Amino acid sequence: MADWLQKKGTQKFIKTLGLPLPIPSTLKRQTEVINPENWKGKKILLDGASLGSNLSSILEQNGFATQQGTEPFDALVYDASSIQSIADLKKLYDFFNGNIRKMNRGGRIVILAGMPTDGATLENQSSIEAITGFSRALSKEVGKRGVNVQCLQIENNLAIAHIFPIVHFFLTEPSVYITGQVLQLSSKAVVTENLSLTNSLKGKTALITGGARGIGAETAKVLAREGAKVIVLDIPKAEEDLKTLAASIDGDYIAMDVTDTGVANKVREKCPNGLDILINNAGITRDKTIAKMTEDYWDLVLNVNLKASIQLTDSLLQSGLNEGASIIGLSSISGIAGNVGQTNYSASKAGMIGLMEKAAEIGAAKKITANAIAPGYIETKMTEKLPFFVKEAGRRLSSLAQGGAPQDIAEAIRFFVSPGAKAITAQVIRVCGGSFIGR
Ligand SMILES: NC(=O)c1ccc[n+]([C@@H]2O[C@H](COP(=O)([O-])OP(=O)(O)OC[C@H]3O[C@@H](n4cnc5c(N)ncnc54)[C@H](O)[C@@H]3O)[C@@H](O)[C@H]2O)c1
Repeated sequence: MADWLQKKGTQKFIKTLGLPLPIPSTLKRQTEVINPENWKGKKILLDGASLGSNLSSILEQNGFATQQGTEPFDALVYDASSIQSIADLKKLYDFFNGNIRKMNRGGRIVILAGMPTDGATLENQSSIEAITGFSRALSKEVGKRGVNVQCLQIENNLAIAHIFPIVHFFLTEPSVYITGQVLQLSSKAVVTENLSLTNSLKGKTALITGGARGIGAETAKVLAREGAKVIVLDIPKAEEDLKTLAASIDGDYIAMDVTDTGVANKVREKCPNGLDILINNAGITRDKTIAKMTEDYWDLVLNVNLKASIQLTDSLLQSGLNEGASIIGLSSISGIAGNVGQTNYSASKAGMIGLMEKAAEIGAAKKITANAIAPGYIETKMTEKLPFFVKEAGRRLSSLAQGGAPQDIAEAIRFFVSPGAKAITAQVIRVCGGSFIGR
């Protein structure tokens, strides 16, 4: 079901009545193949330490306008990587206090920060961490105007070529439902192949579990759009949907329960040249408070959502995943914050974060990245069955004040499995519109 407050008719009606209902900004979404031409001329104000000036030239080469005095801006990029002390933090105040009003609706803010190091003093470490609090608070202040804010903590000496695609993602439509995030960029798994923004998944083979509908099906379409050969896996009951989807994206399918121990062998059989992208997406809910939860509810959720992903990831890490592959695990903000009636689901989704962290550690030797994507409230069949007020709370209690679409998760997955995102590994990326639930 679509978000009713996003409908033009509803908005007009509310305005006529003069009701104090906050009408969320309409988000501009990615609808076609990635084409950097579409972002040419975006006006960006860039300031701060030296990373900023290197970034400025690469942004200009890619068509962004970074000249001063061209406000209103579509984006503000501030390089805060030189901030090491409380006095330095004042630079954030000076830059944003002066410029925040000069932004367009739907704009983007990216703050580049240093990464805490072993040799840091108490003041260094706390000042770097202070930047994350600043950016999260800023995201809550500007979210109602559809403006997103991210903080990227960058390892010293990471090449600008690996930073640029990530900044680009956060400055453009595909990241529209991501805000208030802090991500670490490191050289652990970077590769130099095809850092180009277009055709980024050409020649890659991807497997998506739970791919017959919802987030999985949308992800299949988006990965195929960018050149990947996609195999969708789902329960035998969903075979007709799988067949139709696979045919529409020139892909393939596996009609098998993900808990079946033969899944990994089947995947290897379907991918004689190995797998480049593994998306652990299949998931279910069986909600009850712990006192009322039956044993089968507990077992089912833990087995489908977590045990099956552990078995598949483990087996494919040993054999089947190519050098430089990418793994994604679908977590949830319920796995980060916990949710009433979801002890089983929250446990499985927190477990998924642990699984991705460990897989990243094991996979690093083969330049394999692994990250958890934690959706917030996304409009799918899974959330459709929730009571009206729970749905409304899920939508409104976020910086962007609305639910997300499956394509928001799909675009995030598409980017985080692309070569341009290889500096991101062992991270949790929330795609939640800045949900007030959890960190
Ligand atoms: N929709 C949301 O708001 C939301 C929020 C947070 C996390 N997530 C997570 O995102 C993922 C996708 O969610 P969705 O909203 O698209 O759900 P969905 O219910 O629309 O789709 C889930 C798919 O998984 C498949 N599946 C279930 N059990 C399976 C099994 N044993 N073997 C193979 N396939 C199986 C289903 O048949 C279905 O096609 C899930 O892991 C979910 O927990 C969703």
